[in-house]
Amino acid sequence: MLSLVSQQLIQLPVTMKALLTLGLLLLSVSVQAKVYERCELARTLKRNGLSGYSGVSLSDWVCLAQHESGYNTEAINYNPGDQSTNYGIFQINSRNWCNDSKTPDAVNACGIPCSALLQDDITEAMECAKRVVSDPQGIRPWVAWRKHCRKRDLPQYIQNCGV
Ligand SMILES: *[C@@H]1O[C@H](CO)[C@@H](O)[C@H](O)[C@H]1NC(C)=O
Repeated sequence: MLSLVSQQLIQLPVTMKALLTLGLLLLSVSVQAKVYERCELARTLKRNGLSGYSGVSLSDWVCLAQHESGYNTEAINYNPGDQSTNYGIFQINSRNWCNDSKTPDAVNACGIPCSALLQDDITEAMECAKRVVSDPQGIRPWVAWRKHCRKRDLPQYIQNCGV
């Protein structure tokens, strides 16, 4: 009985420490995740030359990001079918474009680790997105773009953004 009590006294602080560590970890993750505001993204894309890049309009880019990631730079989605993963605000795929060291038969055409696509600063993600649409397929590989943006009137995505 005595040993049980003393054991519990020792274990309690350990549990609290573990919870505190977990809490701090979750806090730091949530602080780091950046979700762009629609117009902030539109302006950033325009400033970096994506408006009209390879024939892709600014509103198409914003529509794509809205429906692929909800403007979340840390969005990660695994595709069990081909064991690839989509990364970041544009959900760029690890089979062709970035290296996550776990996708079978992958080609790293953007020449970057996939983690680079998850940064708050989307400079590398934008450069890789330009590389993607430079291929003959253009913007068409993006499923959410085909589903929600193709052949639609999209002025609302850049409305009142001053772009
Ligand atoms: C991906 O990165 C790993 C570790 O840096 C490296 O060993 C591997 O060759 C890279 N694969 C590709 C396709 O770039």
